[in-house]
Amino acid sequence: MALRSGMIVEPILLDVPDEAGRLDFATVFGAPPAPATPAPIELEIGSGKGTFLLAISQAKPETRFIGFEWAKEYAHYAADRLRRHNRFNCRIVAGEASWWLRCHVPDNSIQALHIYFPDPWPKTRHHKRRLIQLPFLKEVHRILVPGGKLRLVTDHAEYFAHMEATLAAQSDLQVVAFDSPVPEQPGGVGTGMIVGTNFEKKYIAEGRTFHATAAVKPIA
Ligand SMILES: C[S@@+](CC[C@H](N)C(=O)[O-])C[C@H]1O[C@@H](n2cnc3c(N)ncnc32)[C@H](O)[C@@H]1O
Repeated sequence: MALRSGMIVEPILLDVPDEAGRLDFATVFGAPPAPATPAPIELEIGSGKGTFLLAISQAKPETRFIGFEWAKEYAHYAADRLRRHNRFNCRIVAGEASWWLRCHVPDNSIQALHIYFPDPWPKTRHHKRRLIQLPFLKEVHRILVPGGKLRLVTDHAEYFAHMEATLAAQSDLQVVAFDSPVPEQPGGVGTGMIVGTNFEKKYIAEGRTFHATAAVKPIA
């Protein structure tokens, strides 16, 4: 699909200088009006054209979302698309997510992390490029609030086996049954799909099967 020309990415595209360190999300989105408690923050890694964020940010208007997409043209498309739909509870980072999490995300600050159809890197010599690795799960544990949830969906059986083995090899996060993140919406994400991303739609059309799992940070 061709990308739009004349895209306007402000104010959705989030450009944080490296030296900013760990962020106060109220400075990113603005503080919620008193007496509200700080708004929940959810992250998506690999947002593509922003289809999941478009749906979930409408379903959960009180929650604030940051999507990471390192392909700049898709990140800009997603930012422009979310702006056109008035999803000002969203931000898009055009960059590498795990580095950004380490640099900028405070401990115990994230309600949910969504990772849908991550690149499977099927060749053995490329497995080290996979996002789901033990050090990454340590970082996920650091940033999630107690009770916060990681959700993973893939069509790739071998990568899914790797995800399950990696989750089993650590004891910080507790594996739980996967539940769809978006409430049922007529004509929307809840209609027979798990998460409603572009890759999910494409793979449904191809008749592929999906694998999904989730893990929570235990409440101490
Ligand atoms: C297979 S696509 C899936 C896109 C979307 N989640 C979907 O289901 O339609 C994976 C996307 O994740 C992005 N990506 C992969 N690793 C990333 C990383 N470490 N940081 C940011 N984006 C990443 C890729 O550029 C690509 O757009």
